[in-house]
Amino acid sequence: MLISGGGTNLQAILDAEKSGLLHSGSVKLVVSNRAGAYGLERAKAAGVKAVTVSKKQCGSQEAFEDELIRQIDAAKTDLIVLAGWLAILSEKFTRHYEHRIINIHPALIPSFCGEGFYGLKVHEAALAKGVKVSGATVHYVNEIPDGGEIIAQKAVKVYPKDTPEKLQLRIMRQAEWKLLPKAAEDISAQIVAGTHPGYKEE
Ligand code: GRF
Repeated sequence: MLISGGGTNLQAILDAEKSGLLHSGSVKLVVSNRAGAYGLERAKAAGVKAVTVSKKQCGSQEAFEDELIRQIDAAKTDLIVLAGWLAILSEKFTRHYEHRIINIHPALIPSFCGEGFYGLKVHEAALAKGVKVSGATVHYVNEIPDGGEIIAQKAVKVYPKDTPEKLQLRIMRQAEWKLLPKAAEDISAQIVAGTHPGYKEE
């Protein structure tokens, strides 16, 4: 799992693994591009290897992605889950793991997504537009920000007195923390069964 911040979605996956909801796969490695991200503590508390890999530390985008690939492949992972990951990944990287990277976005794609739509900005834009429904989307990751094939979506009501913070929390509670573990389980099950498009047995 790749994270940049608090890691509540990571926690939802770790909890799903503990409860058995996620049983076809397990979290092998957590990478943060920010040293000190709280999600790293969550990983360690669950006994999962946690490392920081940053562009600054590596010197260039290419060296950064090479190090990510090295860490990911060393952990023998079949699926990469982006959960609040804020670093840019090149087309070279996303193609290297075609159909093997998923992301959670806190809106109903194609609304309020793409470049610049991250964190509270997504919810600020949804409220500014006056939508009555927002939600979350799990999608495959390709070279277009939030542009990959949609895997799952869940709608969440927007209320007149919502603030971006209130809406963010409701979307996390009602959609993200349920949708992402379920998608991780579904895809892991497909990988195990050999029916997943991004996984070819060697
Ligand atoms: C979530 O809203 C996620 O959808 C978005 O970034 C936020 C990350 O939160 N991409 P957390 O780090 O999982 O708590």
